Amino acid sequence: MLALDQVLPPSATVTSEGHLAVGGCDLVELAEEHGTPLVVYDEGALRATARAFREAVARHAPGGEVVYASKAYFGLAMLRIVCEEGLSVDAASGGELYAALRAGFPPERIHLHGNNKDAGEIGAALDAGVGTVVVDNLDEIALLEREAARRGMVQRVLLRITPGVRPSTHSHIATGQSDSKFGFPLAARMAHAGVEAARRSPHLAFEGIHAHLGSQLFDLSVFRPAAQVLADFAVEIGAEDVTTVDIGGGLGIAYTAADRPPSVETFVETIAEAVHEAWRSRGLPLPRLVTEPGRAIAGRAGVTLYRVGGIKPIEGVRVYASVDGGMSDLLRPMLYGAVYEPLVANRADAEPTEVVRLVGKHCESSDVLVGEAHLPPLEVGDLVCLPATGAYGVSMASNYNGQPRPAVVFVDNGASRLVTRRETYADIVARDVL
Ligand SMILES: Cc1ncc(COP(=O)(O)O)c(C=O)c1O
Repeated sequence: MLALDQVLPPSATVTSEGHLAVGGCDLVELAEEHGTPLVVYDEGALRATARAFREAVARHAPGGEVVYASKAYFGLAMLRIVCEEGLSVDAASGGELYAALRAGFPPERIHLHGNNKDAGEIGAALDAGVGTVVVDNLDEIALLEREAARRGMVQRVLLRITPGVRPSTHSHIATGQSDSKFGFPLAARMAHAGVEAARRSPHLAFEGIHAHLGSQLFDLSVFRPAAQVLADFAVEIGAEDVTTVDIGGGLGIAYTAADRPPSVETFVETIAEAVHEAWRSRGLPLPRLVTEPGRAIAGRAGVTLYRVGGIKPIEGVRVYASVDGGMSDLLRPMLYGAVYEPLVANRADAEPTEVVRLVGKHCESSDVLVGEAHLPPLEVGDLVCLPATGAYGVSMASNYNGQPRPAVVFVDNGASRLVTRRETYADIVARDVL
């Protein structure tokens, strides 16, 4: 039994040598084989969570759709798994759209997102035949209409609304409030104008509304008022053609042993009840429910492994332990103060008796992965594992300080496969022109 049982992938165990293992694979051996930093995903966990969403939606909102938000992690192997599990995919850029198509997603199961889609991205989506474009603003409606008209097509659209509710989460990942760069606010009837524009266009088929309230949510009570606002809006615009309601993603995961996120089942039941109750109480026919989980599918399945390089005890201050990655592979702590709880993968059963500051190798004082890491006494060469790094980790990775982005390995039932090779220094300068 590990202290971080709820944070590590469910398959995590400790071997007789005291090594942390995931998916039946010894992480110490994987780090030796592939080098560090290394991101390891438990394929069984990815599939199980994707399936849990699909089955919960089938139970609580028959006919509904689960759309994986690929921004969480858009590696091709991941997208292939999500596709095989029967989910749709949210692509928030031309790059994510390209990845979804390359992974083999049927275009009709792709939803194009983004608050500033350009003509190239919209053109690529139309040419591919994506199922849904989630439109974000009036300029985009005009652009989409022009591009669809040029192709003689009719594109199905949802309108992204900010319902003006504020979830309980970090302000950087709250999106449902009116003061947001995303979507049409209800204020000043901007959303009404959006619906009118979409309905007017012979090249757009308005199918409903979308609202993503925020990310890393544990308190799901926000979905009830949000659904009420959306239902009121549907009544105001005339609900006949509001056949789909996409309530976004947002289910949180445990990053620390103290975190207690709701289950997939509770999340889906809550959003379905919130939308159904809001629609029913207004005498409206129930819409098709769509949800867009990202973090909840990718997050817990992934861990990142780092090698400890230097340990610096500063008398009367603190101990710094430096690892061979940092903000270039895991930006969340620096971006919005995300907290992680590490463990030592090569001594996973050792007691955490010391507190150290786990820092990256980048030239920024803010390159702190874990401000107060409770760990056994560290030694140079130890392998530190940061659990729950599967979402918004490698998908936000950069080459800061010329750092090659990490390799990614999938494990399952005792077998491992490299799904993304480590970048080389040649990769880093490959686009430069002398
Ligand atoms: C429109 C939209 N849908 C879904 C998501 C996924 O959110 P999460 O990873 O919290 O489930 C996001 C995240 O930013 C988003 O912006």
